Amino acid sequence: MKIVETAAELRQYLKPLRINREIGFVPTMGYLHEGHLSLVRRAKQECQTVVMSIFVNPLQFGPGEDFDRYPRDLERDAALARQAGVDVLFYPSVDEMYGEGTLTTVQVRKVSEPLCGASRPGHFDGVATVVAKLFNIVGPDRAYFGLKDAQQVAVIERMVQDLHFPVTIVPCPIVREADGLALSSRNVYLSETEREQALILSRSLREAEEKLKHGELEHAEEIKEYVRRRISTMPLAEIDYVEALTYPDLEPFFRWEGQRVIVAVAVKFGATRLIDNLLIGGR
Ligand code: PAJ
Repeated sequence: MKIVETAAELRQYLKPLRINREIGFVPTMGYLHEGHLSLVRRAKQECQTVVMSIFVNPLQFGPGEDFDRYPRDLERDAALARQAGVDVLFYPSVDEMYGEGTLTTVQVRKVSEPLCGASRPGHFDGVATVVAKLFNIVGPDRAYFGLKDAQQVAVIERMVQDLHFPVTIVPCPIVREADGLALSSRNVYLSETEREQALILSRSLREAEEKLKHGELEHAEEIKEYVRRRISTMPLAEIDYVEALTYPDLEPFFRWEGQRVIVAVAVKFGATRLIDNLLIGGR
């Protein structure tokens, strides 16, 4: 596995690898886990060359968020990436990516506004901007994103469509622990009790899905109320949002009639904010 730290060197290195071959790209912020590695495996099945980036992007963190304490461990990440079959690891510095700052940003309106966009203002501008930059540096044929961040997928898909990026976005399923907790680099922050109580996220979503499919829940308001009530049974859970919207447009709906919808939650346990979601119906 080749490790590259500058955009110029990466472009140079990838040039011969493009001829009659496809480049798959997995952008990450590192501290890799099975969720990230599942994207690499999918990319390996579909592309001859797999590029991963590890870059904790300051632009997508708000003031007071965990940019400074976001977990970082390049040596461990490089070993995991190599084992999973990454061919090229792009590991730029903040200076390499932003130099003296940036006057240009990418904003995807509407889909970036509800859910995490409402509680983390500017977050998706930061995500769209860095992903646009990474796409321009890597020039991938296919790029792999996890549905753990389903709104991020919706934002990137819309950006790619609106700006004609010549890349196919491949959304991949959420990888969970055996007990249902969605894998996240931030899970390392959780105490034992917090982790135990955090299981209510996946559990309440599953229950809501069951109840929807059996007709016990029907309206968006009922779904939200049900999930909210279940999460509130955990004393350490501090709800940021519980939402039920259409997917990928992220618009409100009244009644579920089999269309594709997302039920999404963001909940704080102590200082740690966790997100989870479920896509139901449609497509
Ligand atoms: P990061 O949180 O490191 O996630 C990188 C990719 O891994 C994202 O596409 C995310 O959805 C996926 N992922 C994380 N946990 C997952 C899980 N449990 N199952 C499946 N996929 C999972 O998302 C980002 O970084 C950044 O916003 C980034 C796109 C790199 C832009 O900075």
